[in-house]
Amino acid sequence: MEQVQRNGNGIHQQKNDTSSRTKWKVSSSVTARNTFNPIRAIVDGMKLSPNPNKHMIALSLGDPTVFGNFQPPEQAVKGIIDAVSKGTNNGYSPSFGHESARTAVASFVSSESATVNAGDVYLSCGCSDAIQMAITVLASPGDNIIVPRPGFSLYKTISLSQGIGVKFYDCLPAQQWEADLEHMESLIDEKTKAIVVVNPSNPCGSNFSKKHIRDILSVAERNKVPIIADEIYSKIVFSGQTFISCASESTTVPILSCGGIAKTFLAPGWRLGWIVVHDRNEIFGKDIRTGLVQLSQRVLGPCTLVQAALPAILSTPQSFHDNTVAKIEVNAKCLYERIKAIPGLSPIKPTAAMYMMVGFDRDRFPDLKDDVAFTERLVIEQSVFCLPAKCFEYPNYFRVVLTIPEDQTEEACGRLEEFCNKYYKS
Ligand SMILES: Cc1ncc(COP(=O)(O)O)c(C=O)c1O
Repeated sequence: MEQVQRNGNGIHQQKNDTSSRTKWKVSSSVTARNTFNPIRAIVDGMKLSPNPNKHMIALSLGDPTVFGNFQPPEQAVKGIIDAVSKGTNNGYSPSFGHESARTAVASFVSSESATVNAGDVYLSCGCSDAIQMAITVLASPGDNIIVPRPGFSLYKTISLSQGIGVKFYDCLPAQQWEADLEHMESLIDEKTKAIVVVNPSNPCGSNFSKKHIRDILSVAERNKVPIIADEIYSKIVFSGQTFISCASESTTVPILSCGGIAKTFLAPGWRLGWIVVHDRNEIFGKDIRTGLVQLSQRVLGPCTLVQAALPAILSTPQSFHDNTVAKIEVNAKCLYERIKAIPGLSPIKPTAAMYMMVGFDRDRFPDLKDDVAFTERLVIEQSVFCLPAKCFEYPNYFRVVLTIPEDQTEEACGRLEEFCNKYYKS
């Protein structure tokens, strides 16, 4: 008899049968096979050969640094340089992060009505890793989570790879992408372990009002379902808008709030994110907190150099964020006005984040059968690439990013107009 460990609680006996091991047979695991990114699955299947006579304008990439017009704050860069120079930040940290870094996050996210401390913060390798830990700590194979449609695709990728189901609640373009609360509530069942709220939204570029956040919390409270709040775009809200965190409005619903420095501090490659536990009534209690620590032990936390720089990064003055938003907003206005005037297209005015969704009237473009065909042809003829919203479970729309340089915005709009004029049938 061989001895094999299965669950960390002891050694299990297993019959030592090697009769089938006579030939090499190595195949990928069930987890690997069940892991797929819908964006890659759709985009890799598209024929994306741009028009050689026009330079490519990628309105598809949710990375604000690709064009060079958005740079991280100076003090953040200096923080990293200092962290490297000191020579004291090269060792392992606690798997959920150094206390000084977690204290910086706690003070960055705390508000009058939702104060947290370092003990409530768990650092992660980017917000993606925070999302992965948040889903994994709450849901087991066979459970489900409720996610927005259109929505950021990572929730589906992570859940399905672990045998966790996803159910999509609709967000309504005619109501500035607010969640259809009745629909959301109708999806909840015994196996539902979390409602995911992405606010401000990728891909919608929307920002929820206080009332809407409270209404979502009421659904969660009535059905006793925790919330995973993805608030990575919290600092990117347009003029006249206020970001309202789920935690600031919750008195009863336990919340795992996920965030990070990727967007707000324009450094997605630095891979630092976090989960903040908001649990006033001890509903998550020790169980979920211990679970988060255990999950963080798989990867042993984010890069210690970035952790050391985090107090400097997060104390960036508000003027930096104001400046970022102002630049995005100029583009947003220009793209919205120009695209609104193009026959057959209906952009939904963004109020936050760095994206805008544009609906296209399929009946007016009979030669382009769906959003994938529309965006594919647009690349082939005009070298402009927008992401088909099928990637976000929302066909007949496409998403444009708002962080491209201003001169390219103009050029992209001109080409989009020419393209639509060619295919539009009145
Ligand atoms: C809504 C949302 N959440 C999380 C992430 C992932 O962030 P990170 O790059 O920190 O992993 C993104 C990235 O695009 C996002 O749009």
